Amino acid sequence: MEFTIKSGSPEKQRSACVVAGVFDNRKLSLSAELIDRASNGYISEIIRRGDMEGKLGSTLLLHNVRGTLADRVLLIGLGKERDFRDKEFRSAVKSAVKLLNETGSYEAVIYLTEEKVKRREVAWRVEHAVVVAMEAVYRFEQMKSQPTEVRRPLRKLTLSVPQRSDLAAGEAAAARGLAIAHGMDLARDLGNLPSNVCTPTYLAAAAQDIAKELPDVKVTVLERKEIEELGMGSFLSVAHGTAEPPRFIVMEYHGAAKKQRPFVLVGKGITFDTGGISLKPGLDMDQMKFDMCGAASVLGTFRAIAELKAKVNLIGLVPACENMPSGTATKPGDIVKSMSGQTIEILNTDAEGRLVLADALTYAERYEPEAVVDIATLTGAMVIALGHVASGVFSTSDTLARALIAAGDDAYDRGWPMPLWEDYQEGLNSNFADFANIAGRAGGSITAACFLSRFTKKYDWAHIDIAGVAWREGKEKGATGRPVPLLTTWLLSNEAAA
Ligand code: BES
Ligand code: MN
Ligand code: ZN
Repeated sequence: MEFTIKSGSPEKQRSACVVAGVFDNRKLSLSAELIDRASNGYISEIIRRGDMEGKLGSTLLLHNVRGTLADRVLLIGLGKERDFRDKEFRSAVKSAVKLLNETGSYEAVIYLTEEKVKRREVAWRVEHAVVVAMEAVYRFEQMKSQPTEVRRPLRKLTLSVPQRSDLAAGEAAAARGLAIAHGMDLARDLGNLPSNVCTPTYLAAAAQDIAKELPDVKVTVLERKEIEELGMGSFLSVAHGTAEPPRFIVMEYHGAAKKQRPFVLVGKGITFDTGGISLKPGLDMDQMKFDMCGAASVLGTFRAIAELKAKVNLIGLVPACENMPSGTATKPGDIVKSMSGQTIEILNTDAEGRLVLADALTYAERYEPEAVVDIATLTGAMVIALGHVASGVFSTSDTLARALIAAGDDAYDRGWPMPLWEDYQEGLNSNFADFANIAGRAGGSITAACFLSRFTKKYDWAHIDIAGVAWREGKEKGATGRPVPLLTTWLLSNEAAA
Protein backbone atom coordinates (compact mmCIF):
# COMPACT_ATOMS: atom_id res chain seq x y z
CA MET A 1 0.00 0.00 0.00
CA GLU A 2 1.08 3.56 -0.69
CA PHE A 3 0.69 6.42 1.78
CA THR A 4 0.67 10.18 1.27
CA ILE A 5 0.19 13.09 3.65
CA LYS A 6 -2.07 15.99 2.90
CA SER A 7 -3.66 18.98 4.58
CA GLY A 8 -7.00 20.40 3.44
CA SER A 9 -10.75 20.45 3.83
CA PRO A 10 -12.63 17.12 3.56
CA GLU A 11 -15.53 18.42 1.44
CA LYS A 12 -13.03 19.56 -1.20
CA GLN A 13 -11.23 16.23 -1.56
CA ARG A 14 -11.58 14.51 -4.90
CA SER A 15 -11.36 10.92 -3.79
CA ALA A 16 -13.11 7.56 -3.93
CA CYS A 17 -13.77 7.93 -0.24
CA VAL A 18 -13.30 10.44 2.57
CA VAL A 19 -13.18 9.00 6.09
CA ALA A 20 -14.38 11.08 9.04
CA GLY A 21 -15.12 10.30 12.68
CA VAL A 22 -18.25 10.60 14.81
CA PHE A 23 -18.11 10.53 18.59
CA ASP A 24 -20.60 9.00 20.92
CA ASN A 25 -23.48 11.33 21.88
CA ARG A 26 -23.87 12.69 18.35
CA LYS A 27 -20.70 14.75 18.56
CA LEU A 28 -19.15 15.24 15.14
CA SER A 29 -15.41 15.38 14.64
CA LEU A 30 -14.10 18.55 13.03
CA SER A 31 -13.93 16.92 9.61
CA ALA A 32 -17.43 15.44 9.89
CA GLU A 33 -18.61 18.90 10.90
CA LEU A 34 -17.17 20.41 7.71
CA ILE A 35 -18.84 17.75 5.57
CA ASP A 36 -22.07 18.35 7.46
CA ARG A 37 -21.96 22.07 6.69
CA ALA A 38 -21.13 21.53 3.02
CA SER A 39 -24.04 19.10 2.70
CA ASN A 40 -26.56 21.31 4.50
CA GLY A 41 -26.77 19.13 7.59
CA TYR A 42 -26.97 15.73 5.87
CA ILE A 43 -24.60 14.08 8.39
CA SER A 44 -26.37 15.45 11.45
CA GLU A 45 -29.68 14.32 9.98
CA ILE A 46 -28.37 10.76 9.65
CA ILE A 47 -27.13 10.88 13.20
CA ARG A 48 -30.46 12.25 14.46
CA ARG A 49 -32.22 9.31 12.83
CA GLY A 50 -29.94 6.95 14.76
CA ASP A 51 -28.13 5.38 11.80
CA MET A 52 -24.71 6.22 13.25
CA GLU A 53 -24.42 6.42 17.02
CA GLY A 54 -20.68 6.89 17.24
CA LYS A 55 -19.99 3.57 18.92
CA LEU A 56 -16.27 2.82 18.65
CA GLY A 57 -15.50 0.92 15.47
CA SER A 58 -18.98 1.22 13.94
CA THR A 59 -19.10 2.25 10.28
CA LEU A 60 -21.51 3.87 7.85
CA LEU A 61 -20.75 4.26 4.16
CA LEU A 62 -22.54 7.09 2.34
CA HIS A 63 -22.63 7.67 -1.41
CA ASN A 64 -22.77 10.94 -3.32
CA VAL A 65 -23.00 13.23 -0.32
CA ARG A 66 -24.08 16.54 -1.76
CA GLY A 67 -21.73 19.48 -1.46
CA THR A 68 -18.66 17.20 -1.39
CA LEU A 69 -16.32 16.18 -4.20
CA ALA A 70 -15.66 12.61 -3.04
CA ASP A 71 -17.60 9.60 -4.37
CA ARG A 72 -18.21 8.35 -0.84
CA VAL A 73 -18.03 9.44 2.75
CA LEU A 74 -17.23 6.81 5.35
CA LEU A 75 -18.24 7.63 8.91
CA ILE A 76 -16.37 5.85 11.68
CA GLY A 77 -17.58 5.69 15.27
CA LEU A 78 -14.93 6.93 17.71
CA GLY A 79 -16.64 6.23 21.03
CA LYS A 80 -16.59 8.74 23.88
CA GLU A 81 -14.49 11.79 23.07
CA ARG A 82 -12.74 11.89 26.42
CA ASP A 83 -11.86 8.19 26.22
CA PHE A 84 -10.28 8.51 22.79
CA ARG A 85 -6.74 7.24 23.40
CA ASP A 86 -4.11 5.01 21.80
CA LYS A 87 -6.20 1.86 21.68
CA GLU A 88 -9.37 3.65 20.49
CA PHE A 89 -7.50 5.56 17.78
CA ARG A 90 -5.94 2.38 16.49
CA SER A 91 -9.19 0.46 16.50
CA ALA A 92 -11.01 3.25 14.63
CA VAL A 93 -8.34 3.24 11.92
CA LYS A 94 -8.49 -0.53 11.72
CA SER A 95 -12.28 -0.53 11.21
CA ALA A 96 -11.97 2.09 8.50
CA VAL A 97 -9.23 0.30 6.59
CA LYS A 98 -10.91 -3.11 6.84
CA LEU A 99 -14.11 -1.69 5.42
CA LEU A 100 -12.35 0.25 2.66
CA ASN A 101 -10.42 -2.83 1.63
CA GLU A 102 -13.56 -4.95 1.48
CA THR A 103 -15.81 -2.50 -0.33
CA GLY A 104 -13.63 -1.85 -3.34
CA SER A 105 -12.29 1.61 -2.63
CA TYR A 106 -9.02 1.74 -4.49
CA GLU A 107 -7.98 4.87 -2.70
CA ALA A 108 -9.18 7.00 0.25
CA VAL A 109 -8.44 10.08 2.35
CA ILE A 110 -8.51 9.49 6.11
CA TYR A 111 -9.25 12.36 8.49
CA LEU A 112 -8.96 10.31 11.67
CA THR A 113 -5.32 11.41 11.93
CA GLU A 114 -6.60 14.90 12.72
CA GLU A 115 -8.33 13.78 15.92
CA LYS A 116 -6.71 14.62 19.24
CA VAL A 117 -5.30 11.60 21.06
CA LYS A 118 -4.24 12.15 24.65
CA ARG A 119 -0.45 12.60 25.06
CA ARG A 120 0.14 11.98 21.33
CA GLU A 121 1.29 14.36 18.61
CA VAL A 122 0.32 14.30 14.97
CA ALA A 123 3.48 12.30 14.11
CA TRP A 124 2.41 9.52 16.47
CA ARG A 125 -1.06 9.42 14.90
CA VAL A 126 0.32 9.21 11.39
CA GLU A 127 2.89 6.54 12.24
CA HIS A 128 0.31 4.41 14.00
CA ALA A 129 -2.32 4.88 11.29
CA VAL A 130 0.17 3.49 8.76
CA VAL A 131 1.13 0.51 10.95
CA VAL A 132 -2.50 -0.31 11.73
CA ALA A 133 -3.57 0.04 8.09
CA MET A 134 -0.88 -2.37 6.98
CA GLU A 135 -1.80 -4.79 9.75
CA ALA A 136 -5.45 -4.62 8.74
CA VAL A 137 -4.80 -5.66 5.14
CA TYR A 138 -2.16 -8.29 5.95
CA ARG A 139 -2.93 -11.75 4.59
CA PHE A 140 -0.95 -14.96 4.68
CA GLU A 141 -1.91 -17.03 1.69
CA GLN A 142 1.38 -18.29 0.27
CA MET A 143 0.50 -21.85 1.24
CA LYS A 144 -3.02 -21.88 -0.26
CA SER A 145 -3.41 -23.34 -3.74
CA GLN A 146 -6.12 -20.78 -4.46
CA PRO A 147 -5.51 -17.48 -2.71
CA THR A 148 -8.72 -15.51 -2.10
CA GLU A 149 -8.94 -12.59 -4.41
CA VAL A 150 -9.75 -9.13 -3.11
CA ARG A 151 -11.66 -7.52 -5.97
CA ARG A 152 -10.30 -4.02 -5.75
CA PRO A 153 -7.92 -3.84 -2.80
CA LEU A 154 -7.09 -0.55 -1.13
CA ARG A 155 -3.92 0.67 -2.79
CA LYS A 156 -3.47 4.23 -1.70
CA LEU A 157 -4.25 5.91 1.57
CA THR A 158 -3.92 9.63 2.13
CA LEU A 159 -3.61 10.74 5.74
CA SER A 160 -4.79 14.21 6.55
CA VAL A 161 -2.91 16.40 9.03
CA PRO A 162 -4.41 19.55 10.61
CA GLN A 163 -1.93 22.09 9.27
CA ARG A 164 0.43 22.59 6.37
CA SER A 165 3.20 22.97 8.95
CA ASP A 166 2.52 19.34 9.98
CA LEU A 167 3.30 17.97 6.53
CA ALA A 168 7.02 17.35 7.01
CA ALA A 169 6.62 15.63 10.39
CA GLY A 170 3.74 13.65 8.92
CA GLU A 171 5.82 12.40 6.02
CA ALA A 172 8.69 11.32 8.27
CA ALA A 173 6.22 9.56 10.55
CA ALA A 174 4.59 7.76 7.62
CA ALA A 175 8.00 6.52 6.50
CA ARG A 176 8.67 5.25 10.00
CA GLY A 177 5.31 3.53 10.16
CA LEU A 178 5.78 1.93 6.77
CA ALA A 179 9.24 0.59 7.66
CA ILE A 180 7.89 -0.87 10.90
CA ALA A 181 4.99 -2.41 9.00
CA HIS A 182 7.33 -3.95 6.43
CA GLY A 183 9.37 -5.42 9.30
CA MET A 184 6.21 -6.78 10.90
CA ASP A 185 5.00 -8.27 7.61
CA LEU A 186 8.31 -10.12 7.26
CA ALA A 187 8.19 -11.33 10.87
CA ARG A 188 4.59 -12.46 10.43
CA ASP A 189 5.29 -14.32 7.18
CA LEU A 190 8.27 -16.14 8.70
CA GLY A 191 6.28 -16.99 11.81
CA ASN A 192 3.26 -18.23 9.88
CA LEU A 193 5.25 -20.46 7.52
CA PRO A 194 5.17 -24.11 8.62
CA SER A 195 8.33 -25.71 9.95
CA ASN A 196 8.74 -27.91 6.88
CA VAL A 197 9.22 -24.73 4.85
CA CYS A 198 10.69 -22.31 7.38
CA THR A 199 13.75 -24.34 8.36
CA PRO A 200 17.02 -22.89 9.74
CA THR A 201 18.29 -22.86 6.15
CA TYR A 202 15.19 -20.93 5.03
CA LEU A 203 15.65 -18.38 7.83
CA ALA A 204 19.26 -17.88 6.73
CA ALA A 205 18.14 -17.35 3.13
CA ALA A 206 15.54 -14.83 4.33
CA ALA A 207 18.28 -12.91 6.13
CA GLN A 208 20.40 -12.96 2.99
CA ASP A 209 17.45 -11.62 1.00
CA ILE A 210 17.39 -8.56 3.27
CA ALA A 211 21.09 -8.02 2.55
CA LYS A 212 20.43 -8.28 -1.18
CA GLU A 213 17.65 -5.72 -1.02
CA LEU A 214 19.21 -3.24 1.39
CA PRO A 215 22.85 -2.32 0.74
CA ASP A 216 23.92 -1.43 4.30
CA VAL A 217 23.15 -4.95 5.56
CA LYS A 218 25.68 -7.76 5.54
CA VAL A 219 24.82 -11.35 6.38
CA THR A 220 27.08 -14.28 7.23
CA VAL A 221 25.70 -17.76 7.79
CA LEU A 222 27.66 -20.28 9.84
CA GLU A 223 27.05 -23.99 9.23
CA ARG A 224 27.47 -26.95 11.56
CA LYS A 225 31.25 -27.28 11.18
CA GLU A 226 31.91 -23.63 11.99
CA ILE A 227 29.46 -23.74 14.88
CA GLU A 228 31.36 -26.73 16.26
CA GLU A 229 34.66 -24.91 15.87
CA LEU A 230 33.29 -22.03 17.95
CA GLY A 231 32.61 -24.52 20.74
CA MET A 232 28.85 -23.92 20.84
CA GLY A 233 28.12 -27.19 22.60
CA SER A 234 24.99 -25.83 24.23
CA PHE A 235 23.41 -24.71 20.94
CA LEU A 236 24.42 -27.91 19.14
CA SER A 237 22.95 -30.13 21.86
CA VAL A 238 19.50 -28.91 20.80
CA ALA A 239 20.15 -29.67 17.13
CA HIS A 240 21.31 -33.22 17.95
CA GLY A 241 18.00 -35.01 17.42
CA THR A 242 17.11 -33.71 13.98
CA ALA A 243 18.23 -34.31 10.42
CA GLU A 244 17.60 -30.62 9.68
CA PRO A 245 20.97 -28.80 9.67
CA PRO A 246 21.40 -25.91 12.17
CA ARG A 247 22.44 -22.42 11.17
CA PHE A 248 23.99 -19.53 13.06
CA ILE A 249 22.97 -16.32 11.31
CA VAL A 250 25.00 -13.14 11.75
CA MET A 251 23.54 -9.87 10.45
CA GLU A 252 25.35 -6.53 10.46
CA TYR A 253 24.08 -3.06 9.73
CA HIS A 254 26.24 0.07 9.79
CA GLY A 255 24.37 3.35 9.93
CA ALA A 256 26.54 5.29 12.38
CA ALA A 257 30.24 6.08 12.76
CA LYS A 258 32.50 3.01 12.91
CA LYS A 259 33.62 3.83 16.44
CA GLN A 260 30.06 3.74 17.79
CA ARG A 261 29.41 0.55 19.72
CA PRO A 262 26.69 -1.55 18.12
CA PHE A 263 23.43 -2.74 19.61
CA VAL A 264 23.06 -6.50 19.39
CA LEU A 265 19.73 -8.30 18.95
CA VAL A 266 19.68 -12.04 19.60
CA GLY A 267 16.61 -13.98 18.45
CA LYS A 268 15.56 -17.50 19.46
CA GLY A 269 15.28 -19.41 16.20
CA ILE A 270 13.75 -22.78 17.09
CA THR A 271 11.93 -23.56 13.84
CA PHE A 272 9.98 -26.30 15.62
CA ASP A 273 9.93 -27.23 19.29
CA THR A 274 8.64 -30.74 20.00
CA GLY A 275 10.31 -30.61 23.41
CA GLY A 276 12.82 -33.25 22.30
CA ILE A 277 13.02 -36.36 24.53
CA SER A 278 11.10 -34.36 27.16
CA LEU A 279 8.34 -34.49 24.57
CA LYS A 280 5.50 -31.99 24.68
CA PRO A 281 1.86 -33.15 24.80
CA GLY A 282 0.14 -33.29 21.42
CA LEU A 283 -2.54 -30.66 21.98
CA ASP A 284 -1.71 -27.45 20.10
CA MET A 285 1.81 -28.62 19.35
CA ASP A 286 1.44 -27.12 15.87
CA GLN A 287 1.88 -23.73 17.55
CA MET A 288 5.50 -24.60 18.21
CA LYS A 289 6.25 -23.61 14.62
CA PHE A 290 6.06 -20.10 16.10
CA ASP A 291 9.07 -20.83 18.34
CA MET A 292 11.26 -18.87 15.92
CA CYS A 293 9.31 -15.63 16.35
CA GLY A 294 12.19 -14.08 18.31
CA ALA A 295 14.42 -14.69 15.30
CA ALA A 296 11.70 -13.37 12.98
CA SER A 297 11.51 -10.16 15.01
CA VAL A 298 15.27 -9.68 14.61
CA LEU A 299 15.01 -10.03 10.83
CA GLY A 300 11.96 -7.75 10.80
CA THR A 301 13.68 -5.10 12.88
CA PHE A 302 16.73 -5.24 10.61
CA ARG A 303 14.47 -4.66 7.65
CA ALA A 304 12.87 -1.64 9.30
CA ILE A 305 16.12 -0.11 10.53
CA ALA A 306 17.93 -0.58 7.22
CA GLU A 307 14.96 0.73 5.21
CA LEU A 308 15.03 3.90 7.32
CA LYS A 309 18.81 4.15 7.10
CA ALA A 310 18.78 4.72 10.85
CA LYS A 311 21.93 6.18 12.36
CA VAL A 312 22.81 3.24 14.58
CA ASN A 313 25.11 0.25 14.32
CA LEU A 314 23.27 -3.00 14.73
CA ILE A 315 24.17 -6.68 14.93
CA GLY A 316 21.63 -9.49 14.68
CA LEU A 317 22.41 -13.02 15.90
CA VAL A 318 20.11 -15.98 15.30
CA PRO A 319 20.90 -19.48 16.53
CA ALA A 320 18.47 -21.54 14.44
CA CYS A 321 17.62 -25.23 14.71
CA GLU A 322 14.84 -27.75 15.33
CA ASN A 323 14.22 -29.44 18.69
CA MET A 324 13.33 -33.06 17.88
CA PRO A 325 13.41 -36.42 19.67
CA SER A 326 15.32 -39.27 18.02
CA GLY A 327 17.98 -41.88 18.61
CA THR A 328 20.61 -39.18 18.50
CA ALA A 329 18.76 -36.59 20.58
CA THR A 330 20.09 -35.12 23.80
CA LYS A 331 18.68 -36.97 26.86
CA PRO A 332 17.68 -35.61 30.27
CA GLY A 333 20.74 -35.60 32.50
CA ASP A 334 23.18 -35.09 29.64
CA ILE A 335 25.88 -32.53 30.36
CA VAL A 336 27.18 -30.17 27.68
CA LYS A 337 29.86 -27.50 27.53
CA SER A 338 28.79 -24.07 26.37
CA MET A 339 30.94 -21.68 24.34
CA SER A 340 31.53 -19.72 27.55
CA GLY A 341 33.20 -22.81 29.05
CA GLN A 342 30.45 -23.27 31.63
CA THR A 343 28.92 -26.77 31.77
CA ILE A 344 25.17 -27.34 31.77
CA GLU A 345 23.16 -30.31 33.02
CA ILE A 346 20.17 -30.60 30.68
CA LEU A 347 17.45 -31.79 33.05
CA ASN A 348 14.69 -31.02 30.57
CA THR A 349 15.27 -31.02 26.82
CA ASP A 350 12.18 -28.82 26.40
CA ALA A 351 14.05 -25.92 28.01
CA GLU A 352 15.98 -25.60 24.75
CA GLY A 353 15.57 -21.90 23.98
CA ARG A 354 17.94 -20.86 26.73
CA LEU A 355 20.48 -23.43 25.48
CA VAL A 356 20.67 -21.95 21.99
CA LEU A 357 20.60 -18.38 23.31
CA ALA A 358 23.42 -19.03 25.80
CA ASP A 359 26.02 -19.55 23.07
CA ALA A 360 24.70 -16.68 20.96
CA LEU A 361 24.99 -14.39 24.00
CA THR A 362 28.62 -15.45 24.44
CA TYR A 363 29.25 -14.86 20.73
CA ALA A 364 27.86 -11.31 21.19
CA GLU A 365 30.84 -10.38 23.42
CA ARG A 366 33.13 -9.94 20.42
CA TYR A 367 31.24 -6.82 19.32
CA GLU A 368 31.90 -4.93 22.57
CA PRO A 369 28.25 -3.92 22.38
CA GLU A 370 26.49 -0.85 23.70
CA ALA A 371 23.74 -3.24 24.81
CA VAL A 372 22.47 -6.72 23.97
CA VAL A 373 18.78 -7.56 23.82
CA ASP A 374 17.56 -11.10 23.30
CA ILE A 375 14.03 -11.85 22.14
CA ALA A 376 12.52 -15.27 22.71
CA THR A 377 9.32 -17.28 22.99
CA LEU A 378 11.04 -18.67 26.04
CA THR A 379 8.52 -19.87 28.61
CA GLY A 380 4.90 -20.95 28.92
CA ALA A 381 5.03 -19.35 32.36
CA MET A 382 5.34 -15.93 30.69
CA VAL A 383 1.89 -16.41 29.16
CA ILE A 384 0.52 -17.22 32.61
CA ALA A 385 2.14 -14.12 34.13
CA LEU A 386 1.31 -11.39 31.60
CA GLY A 387 -1.17 -13.04 29.24
CA HIS A 388 -1.26 -11.95 25.62
CA VAL A 389 -0.91 -8.23 26.30
CA ALA A 390 2.66 -7.46 27.35
CA SER A 391 6.08 -9.02 26.86
CA GLY A 392 8.19 -9.61 29.97
CA VAL A 393 11.27 -7.38 30.15
CA PHE A 394 14.16 -8.63 32.29
CA SER A 395 17.33 -6.62 32.65
CA THR A 396 20.32 -6.11 34.88
CA SER A 397 20.30 -2.45 33.78
CA ASP A 398 17.34 -0.39 34.98
CA THR A 399 18.15 2.28 32.39
CA LEU A 400 17.95 -0.25 29.56
CA ALA A 401 14.73 -1.80 30.92
CA ARG A 402 13.14 1.63 31.23
CA ALA A 403 14.13 2.59 27.68
CA LEU A 404 12.68 -0.64 26.25
CA ILE A 405 9.44 -0.28 28.19
CA ALA A 406 9.09 3.37 27.14
CA ALA A 407 9.62 2.36 23.50
CA GLY A 408 6.99 -0.36 23.88
CA ASP A 409 4.53 2.15 25.29
CA ASP A 410 5.15 4.51 22.39
CA ALA A 411 4.80 1.73 19.84
CA TYR A 412 1.69 0.21 21.45
CA ASP A 413 3.75 -2.98 21.71
CA ARG A 414 4.12 -3.05 25.42
CA GLY A 415 6.65 -4.67 27.71
CA TRP A 416 6.44 -4.92 31.50
CA PRO A 417 9.29 -5.22 34.03
CA MET A 418 10.07 -8.59 35.57
CA PRO A 419 12.61 -9.18 38.37
CA LEU A 420 16.04 -10.74 38.02
CA TRP A 421 17.02 -10.87 41.68
CA GLU A 422 19.90 -13.09 42.86
CA ASP A 423 17.41 -14.96 45.08
CA TYR A 424 16.00 -16.71 42.02
CA GLN A 425 19.39 -18.06 40.90
CA GLU A 426 19.82 -20.93 43.36
CA GLY A 427 17.10 -23.03 41.74
CA LEU A 428 19.54 -23.70 38.90
CA ASN A 429 22.07 -25.47 41.13
CA SER A 430 23.28 -28.84 39.86
CA ASN A 431 25.10 -31.67 41.63
CA PHE A 432 26.85 -32.70 38.44
CA ALA A 433 27.56 -29.67 36.24
CA ASP A 434 28.15 -25.94 36.80
CA PHE A 435 24.37 -25.50 36.74
CA ALA A 436 21.17 -27.01 35.33
CA ASN A 437 18.98 -25.72 32.51
CA ILE A 438 15.82 -25.67 34.65
CA ALA A 439 14.73 -24.78 38.18
CA GLY A 440 11.38 -25.73 39.74
CA ARG A 441 8.00 -24.80 38.25
CA ALA A 442 7.68 -21.66 40.38
CA GLY A 443 8.74 -18.43 38.67
CA GLY A 444 9.61 -20.30 35.48
CA SER A 445 10.09 -17.18 33.34
CA ILE A 446 12.36 -15.61 35.91
CA THR A 447 14.58 -18.64 36.42
CA ALA A 448 14.87 -18.95 32.63
CA ALA A 449 16.07 -15.34 32.53
CA CYS A 450 18.46 -16.13 35.41
CA PHE A 451 19.94 -18.93 33.32
CA LEU A 452 20.56 -16.50 30.44
CA SER A 453 22.08 -13.91 32.79
CA ARG A 454 24.99 -16.29 33.40
CA PHE A 455 26.15 -15.67 29.84
CA THR A 456 25.81 -11.88 29.80
CA LYS A 457 28.29 -10.61 32.37
CA LYS A 458 30.37 -8.59 29.90
CA TYR A 459 27.76 -6.07 28.72
CA ASP A 460 24.42 -4.37 29.44
CA TRP A 461 21.71 -6.86 28.62
CA ALA A 462 17.96 -7.27 28.51
CA HIS A 463 15.82 -10.29 27.78
CA ILE A 464 12.33 -9.99 26.29
CA ASP A 465 10.09 -13.03 26.72
CA ILE A 466 7.50 -12.80 23.94
CA ALA A 467 5.80 -16.18 24.52
CA GLY A 468 2.42 -14.51 25.11
CA VAL A 469 2.50 -11.89 22.35
CA ALA A 470 4.27 -13.36 19.32
CA TRP A 471 1.19 -15.08 17.93
CA ARG A 472 -2.58 -15.25 18.34
CA GLU A 473 -4.57 -18.42 18.89
CA GLY A 474 -8.09 -19.30 17.81
CA LYS A 475 -9.95 -18.00 14.78
CA GLU A 476 -7.30 -15.41 13.99
CA LYS A 477 -4.41 -17.77 14.61
CA GLY A 478 -1.20 -16.30 13.30
CA ALA A 479 2.00 -14.42 14.03
CA THR A 480 1.61 -10.80 15.21
CA GLY A 481 4.94 -9.32 14.13
CA ARG A 482 5.61 -8.24 17.70
CA PRO A 483 7.95 -6.97 19.07
CA VAL A 484 9.24 -5.37 15.86
CA PRO A 485 7.51 -2.05 16.76
CA LEU A 486 9.05 -2.00 20.24
CA LEU A 487 12.56 -2.87 19.03
CA THR A 488 12.54 -0.46 16.09
CA THR A 489 11.20 2.38 18.22
CA TRP A 490 13.86 1.67 20.85
CA LEU A 491 16.68 1.66 18.30
CA LEU A 492 15.40 4.88 16.72
CA SER A 493 15.33 6.52 20.16
CA ASN A 494 19.03 5.74 20.45
CA GLU A 495 19.62 7.34 17.10
CA ALA A 496 18.34 10.65 18.43
CA ALA A 497 20.82 10.56 21.30
CA ALA A 498 23.76 9.77 19.01
N1 BES B 1 8.95 -22.67 23.36
C1 BES B 1 8.63 -23.06 24.69
C2 BES B 1 7.88 -22.00 25.47
C3 BES B 1 6.45 -21.77 25.09
C4 BES B 1 5.48 -22.70 25.40
C5 BES B 1 6.08 -20.60 24.48
C6 BES B 1 4.16 -22.46 25.08
C7 BES B 1 4.76 -20.35 24.17
C8 BES B 1 3.80 -21.27 24.47
C9 BES B 1 9.90 -23.39 25.47
O1 BES B 1 10.93 -23.93 24.72
C10 BES B 1 9.54 -24.38 26.51
O2 BES B 1 9.16 -25.47 26.15
N2 BES B 1 9.64 -23.99 27.76
C11 BES B 1 9.28 -24.84 28.84
C12 BES B 1 10.35 -24.70 29.90
C13 BES B 1 10.23 -25.71 30.99
C14 BES B 1 10.57 -27.09 30.46
C15 BES B 1 11.16 -25.34 32.11
C16 BES B 1 7.93 -24.39 29.37
O3 BES B 1 7.66 -23.18 29.39
O4 BES B 1 7.13 -25.24 29.68
MN1 MN C 1 10.78 -26.05 24.60
ZN1 ZN D 1 10.94 -23.49 22.74
